[in-house]
Amino acid sequence: MAMANSAEELVFNPPELVAKNAHCSSMEQYREMHKESIKDPEAFWSKIAKEFHFENNSVGKFFEYNFDITKGPIFIQWMKGSRTNICYNCLDRHVLAGKGDAIAFYWEGNDPADRNSVTYAELLSEVCQVANFLKSRGVAAGDRVAIYMPMIKELVVAMLAVARIGAVHNIVFGGYSADSLCDRIVDAGAEVLLCADGVWRGNKLVHLKEIADEAMKMCSSRGVEVRLNVVVRHMTRVTHPASLHDTSNGHPAKKTHFDHQVTWNSDVDVDWETATSSSSSECPVVWLDSEDPLFMLYTSGSTGKPKGVLHTVGGYMLYAATTFKYSFNYHPGDVYFCTADIGWITGHSYVTYGPLLNGATSVLFEGVPTYPHTGRFWEIIERYKVSKFYTAPTAIRTLMKYGDEPVKKFDVSSLRVLGTVGEPINPEAWLWYHRVVGGGNAAIVDTFWQTETGGHVITPLPGATPTKPGSACFPFFGISVCLLDEAGEEIEGEGEGYLVFRQPWPGMMRSVYNNHQRFQETYFQKFPGFYTTGDGARRDKDGYIWVTGRIDDMLNVSGHLLSTAQVESALVEVEQVAEAAAVARPHPVKGECLYCFVTLKQGEKFTEELVADMKNKVRSKIGPFAQPDYLQLAPGLPKTRSGKIMRRVLRKIAVGDRDFGDITTLADPTVVELLFENRPANA
Ligand code: WTA
Repeated sequence: MAMANSAEELVFNPPELVAKNAHCSSMEQYREMHKESIKDPEAFWSKIAKEFHFENNSVGKFFEYNFDITKGPIFIQWMKGSRTNICYNCLDRHVLAGKGDAIAFYWEGNDPADRNSVTYAELLSEVCQVANFLKSRGVAAGDRVAIYMPMIKELVVAMLAVARIGAVHNIVFGGYSADSLCDRIVDAGAEVLLCADGVWRGNKLVHLKEIADEAMKMCSSRGVEVRLNVVVRHMTRVTHPASLHDTSNGHPAKKTHFDHQVTWNSDVDVDWETATSSSSSECPVVWLDSEDPLFMLYTSGSTGKPKGVLHTVGGYMLYAATTFKYSFNYHPGDVYFCTADIGWITGHSYVTYGPLLNGATSVLFEGVPTYPHTGRFWEIIERYKVSKFYTAPTAIRTLMKYGDEPVKKFDVSSLRVLGTVGEPINPEAWLWYHRVVGGGNAAIVDTFWQTETGGHVITPLPGATPTKPGSACFPFFGISVCLLDEAGEEIEGEGEGYLVFRQPWPGMMRSVYNNHQRFQETYFQKFPGFYTTGDGARRDKDGYIWVTGRIDDMLNVSGHLLSTAQVESALVEVEQVAEAAAVARPHPVKGECLYCFVTLKQGEKFTEELVADMKNKVRSKIGPFAQPDYLQLAPGLPKTRSGKIMRRVLRKIAVGDRDFGDITTLADPTVVELLFENRPANA
């Protein structure tokens, strides 16, 4: 941790331009607000709630909870009894205030030639059409609706339409495989799917409809029938990647090749445009209790089975809106650009809900950072004069590789706040982001949070917090941070331990869908009285928090959280595989990558073909991003006498470090040396 220690001494004061008009402009103000938010959450959040619409000004019981499993079941309630609707607060509220003509989103397609924009009023009328159509097909409050779409306007429309009628959205990232999509539809019991026919990601075509068809077939064999699939015909309206229909090199144009064919099952499939355009563009909202569910979003679980993290309407709304406003110091006139996919929590809270609740103008980007050139982000920033930008460390590291030139080609001087999220950011990447992208004048906000937390929980505030490269700095309003040692004793002052929170905040998850038991066990069992994040953290001498990463069996590949169990269970589905153990190995761009050890059944050979099969299995069970970088044949695995795989030893082998520590408790210590000797040539 030499780097982190030296970064501890580096402090960057808030840039003057940002501090000048900040919602929170000094550490004194931050401390005062934070103190109030912890001591009197009701006073703090009820002031904020007044900025939103609650039907008939209803305000129910503001705040009730039990965080201590030894005292009874865990529950968290904010404003129970008050009635609201998040779609109304995102759209109608602004339109009624005369801001209907403001741009909600500039859309940038995969190809830079594909661009358009949508205003708040237009978004509202499209949302109402879709909501009316869904109602006409029997979708009602509480029903789960799965969504599987690329980064297009219809994805935002879909989620808001579902929320408008009180149904519960279950968005599945468009990079997930049919298997993963099926798991998420089945667990949620969703009978309705909203998807698109396909999408270009750079030069790569993803056949979303085909994957969805396969998933629906699998669902059916597992007893869940998707009765309606509304399909956006997206492929017909976008430009195909230039390199594929370039005639300049003598090849004939291949455009016809891309008349994207999809199979159509008229019992289930309906065309989005035909279905919704004839519906009325007015649709009354369904008022919900603040504690009614808004959405579920699946995240990896250490047992391998993903958990449906459940968020409710009222508290999530307050928290997404407030974190957006303060963490990015959002002001009217800003143009905001978050590169995250809506299929992840970052997209839920900081592409859709946070910005729309604040009436913001955002860029919605379908493509990838390196297509058609490595300056794509910077080009977009120049085009729309983006002032607030939010991306992931893995993207920063990817782009850093191309040097400063691609950034310098564009005018990015409009930038004021630069956010990062998804994994710890290494100081080198932080400093490059600050110096090259921000020109030394922008505030860097390293936001730590989780699908479970709903919004930022540890983050600097751009106009107030002096930042240190690699530290997420201090808790957001309402968050009471604690570091605990293994025995559950609190670590005061400097030190490292389990990162836990002492009391609830409005945006935290309420349950695991259909499995409250699992919710309690995962987050509240280890340290009664605390919410356990699963991450470790260090507090330095100045009180700054440095999140060190997962301390459970999770790993973080390019900001995507995976569990080792999930990968292992995919690998053992390959017929020849007897046993598998997956560990994380540091990776210069992805942050971490997968290094897997596999034991084969008697008589099986570790051939190239088998390696390819294993990689494909992981891709098809989880998704392409989960493909292991390294696969090593393991004649045996290092196990304790009780049969537990000693992963810390495997992690050492994965990085070629012979410093194994104590291995005397292993049933057969010789296996360690054998594995070390036989590391694959590319490792
Ligand atoms: C990690 C993403 C360090 C962490 C919003 C967490 C981070 C997991 C940071 C949640 C950060 C996210 N610094 N680590 N700024 N942000 N993480 O649920 O391990 O996809 O527990 O939510 O990502 O991932 P999730």
